[in-house]
Amino acid sequence: MRKPVIAGNWKMYKLIAEAVQTVAELKPLVAAVTHCEIVVAPPFTALWAVAQRLEGSNIQLAAQDVCEMNGFGARTGEISALMLRDVGCRYVIIGHSERRQFYGETDELVRRKIGAALEAGLNPIVCVGETLQEREAGMAEVIVKRQVEAALSGLHPEEVARLLIAYEPVWAIGTGHTASPEQAQTMHAYIRQRVAALVGEKVADGLRILYGGSVRPENIRALMTEPDIDGALVGGASLDPRSFSEIVHYF
Ligand code: PGA
Repeated sequence: MRKPVIAGNWKMYKLIAEAVQTVAELKPLVAAVTHCEIVVAPPFTALWAVAQRLEGSNIQLAAQDVCEMNGFGARTGEISALMLRDVGCRYVIIGHSERRQFYGETDELVRRKIGAALEAGLNPIVCVGETLQEREAGMAEVIVKRQVEAALSGLHPEEVARLLIAYEPVWAIGTGHTASPEQAQTMHAYIRQRVAALVGEKVADGLRILYGGSVRPENIRALMTEPDIDGALVGGASLDPRSFSEIVHYF
Protein backbone atom coordinates (compact mmCIF):
# COMPACT_ATOMS: atom_id res chain seq x y z
CA MET A 1 0.00 0.00 0.00
CA ARG A 2 1.23 3.48 -0.85
CA LYS A 3 1.18 5.83 2.11
CA PRO A 4 -0.40 9.11 1.01
CA VAL A 5 1.53 12.37 1.25
CA ILE A 6 0.02 15.79 1.80
CA ALA A 7 2.64 18.44 1.10
CA GLY A 8 2.31 22.21 1.50
CA ASN A 9 4.29 24.39 -0.89
CA TRP A 10 4.52 27.84 0.66
CA LYS A 11 6.20 29.36 -2.40
CA MET A 12 7.57 32.88 -1.80
CA TYR A 13 5.40 33.55 1.25
CA LYS A 14 6.03 34.02 4.96
CA LEU A 15 8.80 35.77 6.89
CA ILE A 16 10.53 33.69 9.55
CA ALA A 17 8.21 34.69 12.39
CA GLU A 18 5.08 33.85 10.37
CA ALA A 19 6.56 30.56 9.22
CA VAL A 20 7.30 29.54 12.80
CA GLN A 21 3.84 30.65 13.89
CA THR A 22 2.25 28.59 11.11
CA VAL A 23 3.94 25.37 12.14
CA ALA A 24 3.31 26.09 15.82
CA GLU A 25 -0.42 26.21 14.98
CA LEU A 26 -0.28 23.29 12.58
CA LYS A 27 1.48 20.83 14.89
CA PRO A 28 -1.33 20.25 17.40
CA LEU A 29 -3.93 20.16 14.60
CA VAL A 30 -2.24 17.18 12.95
CA ALA A 31 -0.46 15.58 15.92
CA ALA A 32 -2.65 12.46 15.88
CA VAL A 33 -2.32 11.86 12.12
CA THR A 34 -0.81 8.55 11.05
CA HIS A 35 -2.78 7.84 7.84
CA CYS A 36 -0.56 10.06 5.68
CA GLU A 37 2.81 11.77 5.63
CA ILE A 38 2.69 15.52 6.18
CA VAL A 39 5.27 17.76 4.54
CA VAL A 40 5.80 21.52 4.51
CA ALA A 41 8.06 23.42 2.11
CA PRO A 42 8.85 26.86 3.54
CA PRO A 43 11.05 29.38 1.72
CA PHE A 44 14.81 28.82 2.18
CA THR A 45 15.15 31.62 4.71
CA ALA A 46 12.70 29.96 7.11
CA LEU A 47 13.95 26.36 6.80
CA TRP A 48 16.22 26.40 9.83
CA ALA A 49 13.72 28.05 12.17
CA VAL A 50 10.92 25.75 10.99
CA ALA A 51 13.17 22.69 11.32
CA GLN A 52 13.74 23.53 15.01
CA ARG A 53 9.99 23.72 15.56
CA LEU A 54 9.31 20.45 13.76
CA GLU A 55 11.74 18.35 15.78
CA GLY A 56 9.97 15.34 17.23
CA SER A 57 6.76 16.06 15.28
CA ASN A 58 5.12 14.06 12.49
CA ILE A 59 5.69 16.85 9.95
CA GLN A 60 8.57 16.55 7.48
CA LEU A 61 10.52 19.38 5.93
CA ALA A 62 10.97 20.06 2.22
CA ALA A 63 12.78 22.71 0.21
CA GLN A 64 11.28 24.25 -2.92
CA ASP A 65 14.31 23.95 -5.19
CA VAL A 66 17.95 22.83 -5.23
CA CYS A 67 21.15 23.44 -7.19
CA GLU A 68 21.93 20.85 -9.87
CA MET A 69 25.57 20.67 -8.84
CA ASN A 70 26.66 17.96 -6.40
CA GLY A 71 28.49 18.94 -3.25
CA PHE A 72 29.82 22.46 -2.85
CA GLY A 73 31.17 24.89 -5.40
CA ALA A 74 31.30 28.31 -6.98
CA ARG A 75 27.57 28.80 -7.65
CA THR A 76 26.69 32.22 -6.26
CA GLY A 77 23.12 32.35 -5.03
CA GLU A 78 22.48 28.62 -5.20
CA ILE A 79 21.67 26.14 -2.43
CA SER A 80 23.30 22.71 -2.40
CA ALA A 81 21.39 19.50 -1.72
CA LEU A 82 23.90 18.88 1.08
CA MET A 83 22.85 22.17 2.68
CA LEU A 84 19.22 21.12 2.48
CA ARG A 85 20.01 17.84 4.21
CA ASP A 86 22.05 19.72 6.76
CA VAL A 87 19.17 22.05 7.61
CA GLY A 88 16.81 19.10 8.10
CA CYS A 89 15.07 18.58 4.77
CA ARG A 90 13.93 15.15 3.75
CA TYR A 91 12.22 16.21 0.52
CA VAL A 92 12.83 18.75 -2.20
CA ILE A 93 10.41 20.01 -4.84
CA ILE A 94 12.05 19.95 -8.27
CA GLY A 95 10.83 21.27 -11.61
CA HIS A 96 7.81 23.18 -10.35
CA SER A 97 6.04 24.82 -13.28
CA GLU A 98 6.82 28.27 -11.86
CA ARG A 99 10.53 27.42 -12.12
CA ARG A 100 10.08 26.04 -15.63
CA GLN A 101 7.99 29.04 -16.68
CA PHE A 102 9.74 31.99 -15.01
CA TYR A 103 13.31 30.71 -14.69
CA GLY A 104 13.65 28.71 -17.86
CA GLU A 105 14.21 25.35 -16.20
CA THR A 106 14.48 22.65 -18.82
CA ASP A 107 13.83 18.92 -18.56
CA GLU A 108 17.58 18.45 -18.64
CA LEU A 109 18.19 20.79 -15.71
CA VAL A 110 15.38 19.12 -13.78
CA ARG A 111 17.05 15.76 -14.35
CA ARG A 112 20.36 17.08 -13.04
CA LYS A 113 18.68 18.52 -9.96
CA ILE A 114 17.08 15.14 -9.29
CA GLY A 115 20.53 13.54 -9.49
CA ALA A 116 22.02 16.03 -7.02
CA ALA A 117 19.11 15.56 -4.61
CA LEU A 118 19.36 11.76 -4.72
CA GLU A 119 23.12 11.89 -4.27
CA ALA A 120 22.66 13.91 -1.06
CA GLY A 121 20.01 11.54 0.27
CA LEU A 122 16.96 13.72 -0.37
CA ASN A 123 13.68 12.49 -1.83
CA PRO A 124 12.77 14.60 -4.87
CA ILE A 125 9.15 15.63 -5.48
CA VAL A 126 9.28 16.00 -9.25
CA CYS A 127 6.62 18.24 -10.76
CA VAL A 128 5.19 17.65 -14.22
CA GLY A 129 2.15 19.04 -16.01
CA GLU A 130 0.85 20.61 -19.18
CA THR A 131 -0.28 24.17 -19.89
CA LEU A 132 -3.83 25.03 -20.94
CA GLN A 133 -2.69 25.57 -24.51
CA GLU A 134 -1.07 22.15 -24.56
CA ARG A 135 -4.19 20.50 -23.14
CA GLU A 136 -6.43 22.24 -25.64
CA ALA A 137 -4.16 21.09 -28.44
CA GLY A 138 -4.60 17.49 -27.24
CA MET A 139 -0.95 17.38 -26.19
CA ALA A 140 -1.31 16.87 -22.42
CA GLU A 141 -0.10 13.27 -22.41
CA VAL A 142 2.70 13.93 -24.87
CA ILE A 143 4.06 16.72 -22.67
CA VAL A 144 3.76 14.80 -19.43
CA LYS A 145 5.35 11.73 -21.02
CA ARG A 146 8.30 13.83 -22.17
CA GLN A 147 8.73 15.37 -18.72
CA VAL A 148 8.48 12.03 -16.91
CA GLU A 149 10.86 10.27 -19.28
CA ALA A 150 13.41 13.07 -19.03
CA ALA A 151 13.18 13.11 -15.23
CA LEU A 152 13.75 9.36 -14.98
CA SER A 153 16.31 8.99 -17.73
CA GLY A 154 19.30 6.94 -16.65
CA LEU A 155 18.05 6.44 -13.08
CA HIS A 156 18.21 3.00 -11.49
CA PRO A 157 14.90 1.53 -10.39
CA GLU A 158 16.02 1.90 -6.72
CA GLU A 159 16.53 5.60 -7.34
CA VAL A 160 13.15 5.98 -9.00
CA ALA A 161 11.66 4.30 -5.93
CA ARG A 162 12.86 7.28 -3.88
CA LEU A 163 11.03 9.84 -6.03
CA LEU A 164 7.56 11.26 -5.73
CA ILE A 165 5.91 12.68 -8.81
CA ALA A 166 3.49 15.58 -8.58
CA TYR A 167 1.11 16.01 -11.50
CA GLU A 168 0.30 19.70 -11.57
CA PRO A 169 -1.57 20.90 -14.65
CA VAL A 170 -0.35 24.47 -15.07
CA TRP A 171 -3.88 25.70 -15.80
CA ALA A 172 -4.99 24.50 -12.37
CA ILE A 173 -2.25 26.16 -10.31
CA GLY A 174 -3.46 29.14 -8.33
CA THR A 175 -6.45 29.56 -10.62
CA GLY A 176 -9.23 27.92 -8.61
CA HIS A 177 -9.83 25.61 -11.61
CA THR A 178 -8.87 22.25 -10.22
CA ALA A 179 -8.67 19.28 -12.55
CA SER A 180 -11.67 17.02 -12.07
CA PRO A 181 -10.91 13.83 -10.12
CA GLU A 182 -11.43 11.89 -13.36
CA GLN A 183 -9.03 14.10 -15.34
CA ALA A 184 -6.40 13.78 -12.63
CA GLN A 185 -6.92 10.02 -12.27
CA THR A 186 -6.53 9.50 -16.02
CA MET A 187 -3.20 11.33 -16.04
CA HIS A 188 -1.96 9.65 -12.87
CA ALA A 189 -2.71 6.21 -14.28
CA TYR A 190 -0.93 7.22 -17.47
CA ILE A 191 2.14 8.39 -15.50
CA ARG A 192 2.20 5.12 -13.56
CA GLN A 193 2.06 3.19 -16.83
CA ARG A 194 4.94 5.17 -18.27
CA VAL A 195 7.01 4.60 -15.13
CA ALA A 196 6.23 0.87 -15.31
CA ALA A 197 7.42 0.80 -18.90
CA LEU A 198 10.68 2.49 -17.88
CA VAL A 199 11.60 0.78 -14.61
CA GLY A 200 9.11 -2.02 -14.11
CA GLU A 201 5.74 -2.66 -12.47
CA LYS A 202 7.06 -3.11 -8.96
CA VAL A 203 8.59 0.36 -8.66
CA ALA A 204 5.64 1.92 -10.52
CA ASP A 205 3.18 0.28 -8.10
CA GLY A 206 5.00 1.74 -5.12
CA LEU A 207 5.45 5.21 -6.60
CA ARG A 208 3.49 7.98 -4.95
CA ILE A 209 1.91 10.34 -7.45
CA LEU A 210 0.54 13.55 -5.94
CA TYR A 211 -1.96 15.89 -7.54
CA GLY A 212 -1.42 19.65 -7.38
CA GLY A 213 -3.43 22.62 -8.60
CA SER A 214 -6.08 24.45 -6.56
CA VAL A 215 -6.43 21.71 -3.97
CA ARG A 216 -8.79 22.90 -1.22
CA PRO A 217 -10.51 21.35 1.80
CA GLU A 218 -13.66 21.15 -0.39
CA ASN A 219 -12.16 19.13 -3.24
CA ILE A 220 -9.47 16.96 -1.62
CA ARG A 221 -11.78 14.14 -0.63
CA ALA A 222 -13.00 13.40 -4.14
CA LEU A 223 -9.46 13.52 -5.47
CA MET A 224 -8.20 11.12 -2.81
CA THR A 225 -10.83 8.51 -3.61
CA GLU A 226 -9.21 7.96 -7.02
CA PRO A 227 -6.99 4.88 -7.04
CA ASP A 228 -3.87 6.48 -8.53
CA ILE A 229 -3.96 9.74 -6.56
CA ASP A 230 -1.64 9.25 -3.60
CA GLY A 231 -1.72 12.69 -2.08
CA ALA A 232 -1.53 16.36 -2.90
CA LEU A 233 0.91 19.19 -3.36
CA VAL A 234 -0.96 22.19 -2.00
CA GLY A 235 -0.02 25.82 -2.63
CA GLY A 236 -2.41 28.57 -1.54
CA ALA A 237 -4.48 26.45 0.83
CA SER A 238 -1.38 25.29 2.71
CA LEU A 239 -0.54 28.78 3.97
CA ASP A 240 -3.27 28.70 6.58
CA PRO A 241 -2.72 25.95 9.17
CA ARG A 242 -6.45 25.28 9.58
CA SER A 243 -7.18 24.78 5.90
CA PHE A 244 -4.01 22.70 5.49
CA SER A 245 -5.05 20.56 8.45
CA GLU A 246 -8.49 20.06 6.88
CA ILE A 247 -6.79 18.85 3.72
CA VAL A 248 -4.63 16.48 5.78
CA HIS A 249 -7.87 15.14 7.31
CA TYR A 250 -9.32 14.48 3.86
CA PHE A 251 -11.47 11.44 4.59
P1 PGA B 1 -2.13 26.00 -5.68
O1 PGA B 1 -0.59 25.67 -6.02
O2 PGA B 1 -2.58 24.97 -4.69
O3 PGA B 1 -2.09 27.39 -5.07
O4 PGA B 1 -2.89 25.94 -6.95
C1 PGA B 1 -0.15 24.35 -6.16
C2 PGA B 1 1.32 24.34 -6.50
O5 PGA B 1 1.78 25.22 -7.25
O6 PGA B 1 2.06 23.46 -6.02
